[in-house]
Amino acid sequence: MSSMPRVPTPEPTSSPEPPTAAIVGCGDISAVHLEALQDLQIDVVGVCDVDPERARTVAQRLDVPAFTDHRELLAATTPSVVHVCTPHAEHVPVAIDVLAAGAHLLLEKPVADSPAQARVLCDAADAAAHQGVRSGVVYQNRYNPPNQRLHELITSGALGRVHGARAAVTWHRTAEYYAARPWRGTWTGAGGGVLMNQAIHTLDLLLWMLGPATAVRGQAATHALAEAIEVEDTAELLITHDGGASSTMYATNAYPVNAPVSVQVHAELATATVAGDLVVAWNDGRSETVAAQAPGSVGRAYWGDSHRILIEDFYARLGEEAPFWISPRDGLATVQAIHQVYDASPALRHPADARS
Ligand SMILES: NC(=O)c1ccc[n+]([C@@H]2O[C@H](COP(=O)([O-])OP(=O)(O)OC[C@H]3O[C@@H](n4cnc5c(N)ncnc54)[C@H](O)[C@@H]3O)[C@@H](O)[C@H]2O)c1
Repeated sequence: MSSMPRVPTPEPTSSPEPPTAAIVGCGDISAVHLEALQDLQIDVVGVCDVDPERARTVAQRLDVPAFTDHRELLAATTPSVVHVCTPHAEHVPVAIDVLAAGAHLLLEKPVADSPAQARVLCDAADAAAHQGVRSGVVYQNRYNPPNQRLHELITSGALGRVHGARAAVTWHRTAEYYAARPWRGTWTGAGGGVLMNQAIHTLDLLLWMLGPATAVRGQAATHALAEAIEVEDTAELLITHDGGASSTMYATNAYPVNAPVSVQVHAELATATVAGDLVVAWNDGRSETVAAQAPGSVGRAYWGDSHRILIEDFYARLGEEAPFWISPRDGLATVQAIHQVYDASPALRHPADARS
């Protein structure tokens, strides 16, 4: 009886180790990152906060080590990805160390508290990218379905020539909001107010959709919260985009409620309005609606619903050759535009040494 031909036993295929995560900065937004990581079943290997109590509380809940120095966390836990959720002035110093340790960087907005610091980060991220280290910025509103669709309609040419866009961010922030986290109201901690902290998402959407800014004019001032904060609570901008369209934006933290952010694009073939949902009113009478709510969202509505989706996408793309599509250079563009407004705002009590 002839025996079955002997087939070589295949070597067990070595699947890559699943990525691990660490969080630096255990404040408000870290909860959204941690919830997303739990949802995605990504192991958190350590957390860090300069406030030992805050670090310990989160670490105990997750049953992971707590650190008060991010360099010790990097050395002890060697995470694949570090989520940087610190105040603005503490973004670049932490991010540079993360990249130097060879960990992928997921950085909360704004990338830096000044254009000079943002450029330092971009150079470090470019150098790290040559070693396969990824950097991504949390502009999660780009993932909102209405914004995705509007971007597609513009860039595919479906709307025809785009004349321009107008945007409004009219939110409510009290003196107590700033007192709870004193860095938020200061030039040294936050590098700016409503533009740098809140409306930067919408500014990013305008630059993403209509193209890079070739000129930015505007004014910023502190109307309602002058007793409580150094930074601006209100601003208006006129942006000229590469390609000829122009956009205007109004932003304030002095509105009585957190109203939905609105972005309206006027184009040759339609007017498209995002205010929660996207409604496209075509000149020929057709209309199209895209609902705002992303499935499975965990973020608070006015932060944008798409933190979890961005985080999932960042991890999913780690194996790809291409850099993550929302880069530190996108972050630099927004910080630069904001500083053009600060530089043109004599009423602002902006320290001259931060105007770079
Ligand atoms: N993408 C969004 O929609 C969104 C929403 C809210 C906040 N954010 C951003 O998230 C970041 C944090 O904001 P927040 O509201 O959570 O602030 P927060 O003050 O609540 O938390 C920041 C934490 O970082 C800690 N910290 C400060 N310096 C540190 C350092 N060097 N190393 C380790 N920990 C340090 C603080 O002690 C604090 O616990 C900011 O950049 C903010 O703009 C983004």
